[in-house]
Amino acid sequence: MFFSMTGNQYLEMYQRSIDDPAGFWSEIAETFYWKQKWSPEEVCTENLDVTKGPIKIEWFKGGKTNICHNAVDRYVEAGDGAKIAMYWEGNEPDQDGKLTYSELLDKVCQLANYLKSVGVEKGDAVVIYLPMLMELPIAMLACARIGAVHSVVFAGFSADAIAQRITDCKPKVVITCNAVKRGQKLIPLKDIVDASLVESAKNGVTVGICLTYENQLAMKKEDTQWIAGRDVWWQDVVPNFPTRCDVEWVDAEDPLFLLYTSGSTGKPKGVLHTTGGYMVYAATTFKHAFDYKPTDIYWCTADCGWITGHSYVTYGPLLNGATVLVYEGAPNYPDPGRCWDIVDKYGVTIFYTAPTLIRSLMRDGSVYVDRYSRKSLRVLGSVGEPINPTAWRWFYNVVGDSRCPISDTWWQTETGGFMITPLPGAWPQKPGSATFPFFGVQPVIVDEKGREMTGECSGYLCIKKSWPGAFRTLYGDKDRYETTYFKPFSGYYFSGDGCRRDKDGYHWLTGRVDDVINASGHRIGTAEVESALVSHPKCAEAAVVGIDHEVKGQGIYAFVTLVDGVPYSDDLRKSLIMAVRSQIGAFAAPDKIHWAPGLPKTRSGKIMRRILRKIASRQLDELGDTSTLADPGVVDQLISLSDS
Ligand code: PRX
Repeated sequence: MFFSMTGNQYLEMYQRSIDDPAGFWSEIAETFYWKQKWSPEEVCTENLDVTKGPIKIEWFKGGKTNICHNAVDRYVEAGDGAKIAMYWEGNEPDQDGKLTYSELLDKVCQLANYLKSVGVEKGDAVVIYLPMLMELPIAMLACARIGAVHSVVFAGFSADAIAQRITDCKPKVVITCNAVKRGQKLIPLKDIVDASLVESAKNGVTVGICLTYENQLAMKKEDTQWIAGRDVWWQDVVPNFPTRCDVEWVDAEDPLFLLYTSGSTGKPKGVLHTTGGYMVYAATTFKHAFDYKPTDIYWCTADCGWITGHSYVTYGPLLNGATVLVYEGAPNYPDPGRCWDIVDKYGVTIFYTAPTLIRSLMRDGSVYVDRYSRKSLRVLGSVGEPINPTAWRWFYNVVGDSRCPISDTWWQTETGGFMITPLPGAWPQKPGSATFPFFGVQPVIVDEKGREMTGECSGYLCIKKSWPGAFRTLYGDKDRYETTYFKPFSGYYFSGDGCRRDKDGYHWLTGRVDDVINASGHRIGTAEVESALVSHPKCAEAAVVGIDHEVKGQGIYAFVTLVDGVPYSDDLRKSLIMAVRSQIGAFAAPDKIHWAPGLPKTRSGKIMRRILRKIASRQLDELGDTSTLADPGVVDQLISLSDS
């Protein structure tokens, strides 16, 4: 099969991107539309070293552009308005839709005009809580068009989690829909938003407008709870607005979106991305890592509620003028062959998904794959967690018929786009390795003292030098931004991941080294789960660790200590899990609750998670030194209760 880039071309381009980042990225940036060009001496201004002053990352400063214009108008103006921008496949196999670039522009403009009419201005936040309808990318683009800052909240988060985000970013408008069906299950999204707005009002943040899309396939208008004066039906107002709306030209460093993600401590962090650098980076990574061609039909199974959906459902593909498939339903509904049914139905050429889905479909058996031709596929992609070689081989041999390269893309909410990834066909693949850095990215592996290691090595993955797609801060918390990412190893961005480099220079990601769990590709802070558990009146203390899980990658294992005198029971176990579901969302529910009369702590009171991890994974001969514990007896007690 023919691919655009050879290994030598990559090496040449990579070298140039490192030797002359300003020149390299300027040339690429010039292929976009800028109302006003950036100042040539300010292509990139950066300080990644806390010892030298505040952290600062700026790209294309002084430039004025608009990402929505570049993703939509640019293609309509170039005469490609009739090209399909989005196919939409609903929960049921007979539900579908599509939008050309011209139609997309009309819809984006109408919503943008509506938002303006209710007073949303440049810099205002808008929270979006929508399932994978085309209205979700439309809403993101409409915000971007008028310079508003969107904050998409994954439609699996609970009312409390939405309220926390609303309280932090104080949106003028919340956009949602009345309900969605995922598989057989009806999820009343509007009810969840209603509850979150009651919560956020208690925190002093009142949202004036809840724009609600009527998702007729899931729920009728008349069955939807309504608060007159605050709630507005999308279909009643948005279509009445003009299909033309002037673009707000924003500075390259003006905020584009806020996306909350989990860290190892405290509440979720509002990762802030700005406009110019993110635009250039999302588009360029998409183009090369998937060897994009204008005839491609591209499908990414991620939800726009996560960064993958931002960069590789909405912005990256549309900035390249691609045709994107948006799928509303569950990947195994009505049966585990649904993905391949969709691939054949639309002639999908690039299929980008997560290891957890691959493992779950692998478990269901190849018969569901073999039923479909899949001959349109040419490039496969994986993201979200390390892909184990068995799953990699199944994806490659069974799904891709041993002819489609796999781009195993390593990156993060914070990085905006791919950081380490294969480029199709450019070099030999190794199952489970994300291979080599993308242009402009300088990964370094450091030891615990922050010393760079070379050659074959294993340690903490950091990045030296900024790249255009890097996040610029944590919203409202510059201190946490610096402390979490730049203080651990001076002079570098610290990813929170472990990594091994082999003798051929390939990178192998080994998972998080902080207290973050990656369950089904969802990033979950142990501290958040613990805080949800201890909010339960009968829970005195909780310690959460990750354990290996066959399908999810990592499972969530919670040790809980109960309030004195409270007996442990199955009902209590269920209500503890309920506490997590209602404070975070079902995806964060612990797989296992382990009743712990006491937790292993050091004499200074610090919980020894290392020991808990070993107990949780039943590696009892690897407990290590327990003599520093305040009460070494708790370990035996915990082991004896493992099967409770
Ligand atoms: O641990 C890494 C893992 O996912 C984390 C980032 O999570 P999030 O910000 O939610 O973004 C997920 C989608 C980019 C990373 O710190 N991760 C992501 N991709 C890979 C990965 N681990 C190994 N290999 C990957 N390809």
